[in-house]
Amino acid sequence: IKTQVAIMGAGPAGLMLSHLLAKQGIESVVVEIRSRKEIQETVRAGILEHGTVNLLVDSGVSDRVLREGDRHDGIELRFNGESHRINFKELVGESVWLYPQTDVFMDLAARREADGGAVHYSVTDTTVHDLEGKPKVWFTNADGQEFEIQADFLVGADGSRSHCRFQIPEANRKWYFHEYPFAWFGILAEAPRSADELIYANSENGFALISQRTETVQRMYFQCDPKENVANWDDERIWSEFRKRVNGNGFELKEGPVLEKMVLPFRSFVHTPMRHGNLFLAGDAAHTVPPTGAKGLNLAIHDVKVLFEGLDSFYSNGSTALLDSYSDRALDRVWKAQHFSYWMTSMLHTVPGAVDFDRARQLGELHSVVTSEHAKAYLAESYTGWPTSR
Ligand code: DHB
Repeated sequence: IKTQVAIMGAGPAGLMLSHLLAKQGIESVVVEIRSRKEIQETVRAGILEHGTVNLLVDSGVSDRVLREGDRHDGIELRFNGESHRINFKELVGESVWLYPQTDVFMDLAARREADGGAVHYSVTDTTVHDLEGKPKVWFTNADGQEFEIQADFLVGADGSRSHCRFQIPEANRKWYFHEYPFAWFGILAEAPRSADELIYANSENGFALISQRTETVQRMYFQCDPKENVANWDDERIWSEFRKRVNGNGFELKEGPVLEKMVLPFRSFVHTPMRHGNLFLAGDAAHTVPPTGAKGLNLAIHDVKVLFEGLDSFYSNGSTALLDSYSDRALDRVWKAQHFSYWMTSMLHTVPGAVDFDRARQLGELHSVVTSEHAKAYLAESYTGWPTSR
C-alpha cells in the first residue's frame, strides 16, 4: 500500500489526524491493534476543552457534542467541608464540555468510515522500518493477510505503550518521568447527578472527584493506593469512602449500584523531541499526564492540530518549516499541561505520611486560590485550555 501518511493508532489522535488530512486531500492509512469494540468499551475521561470542541465541530466530526454533551461553566473545589466555585465563564470567558472520550472516538470512527477512510482495526504483527528515510509499516490484517505500507511520513499515535516510541534510538531522545505515591479508584454508578458541575474534593481522608456521564449514570473517583485491588471493594465500602471525603455541611452524594470499578495508574511522562527523522509522535505515545484536570485527550488533539498544519503546509507548498517546529510547539503546551496536572494533583491529594505542616500548608494553598481572582483565573485558563502556541 502506498500512501502519504501512515498512522499507527486509531484512538482520537490518529483518527482526528486522518480526518483532517482527508479534508485537504492528503491520503493516510491508519492501523490499530485493538478492535473497534474494545476501544469503544474502554472507559476514559470526560472533559473537553473549548478548543477541542471547536475542532470537532468545525472540522465536521461531530455536532453531537453540542447536542448531547453538557457545557460546564465552572467547577467546585471542595475542602474543609465547603465548596468554592471557580467560575470559568466569568474569569476567562470560556467553558468546557462534559462529553466522554469514548463518544469522541465513536464520532471520529463513524466519520472516517462514512468518508471511506482506510482504518484497519484488529491488526497484528505491526513493525515499523526506515524511520529516517521513507517509512514503512508491516502488519497483518484481521483476515490474516500481510501488508506493507510505504509512506512519506509515519505518525506514532499508538498510545502510552507506544511501539513507535521504542524504535527511536536512545541517543536520539530524552525521557522525563515523575511517579506519584497514589492512584485513582474509578467507578461508574447508577445514580442521579449529585451536583450540576464537577466537584474536586480535598479532605484529610484523601482526594475525591465527582463527575458525571448521563442523567442516570455517574463517574466518580477517589485517591487510593496504586496496588489497590478492586475485588476488595464492595458497594458499601466504596460509598463509605466517598462519604468520608465529600459529604458534610448539608451536602450528600446520591448513591446507587456500582456498575464498573477500576484502578487508574498515575504518572507524568514526556518523550522529547516528538520527532525522529520522518516519524512524528502524537498524544499518549509522547506524553502521559496524571488524570487530575483531564488534559490527556485534549493534549493529544492539540498535538494533532499542530502536526496537521505542518503536513498540510508541506503538501501544499513544499515547506518543511512547520514540520520542523512541530515538536517545540507541541511540547510548549505539553509542559504547561504537565505543570497544571501536577499542581492540581499536589494541591488536592493527600501524600501518604504527610505531617501536620503538609496538611496545613495545603489548606493555605487552597485558601489562596479560592480567595484570589488571579489564582482562580490561572486555574480557569488552564482548565478550559490555553490558546494554540505559534
Ligand atoms: C473526568 C476525569 C478527570 O480526570 C477529570 O479531571 C475530570 C473528569 C471524568 O472522567 O469525567
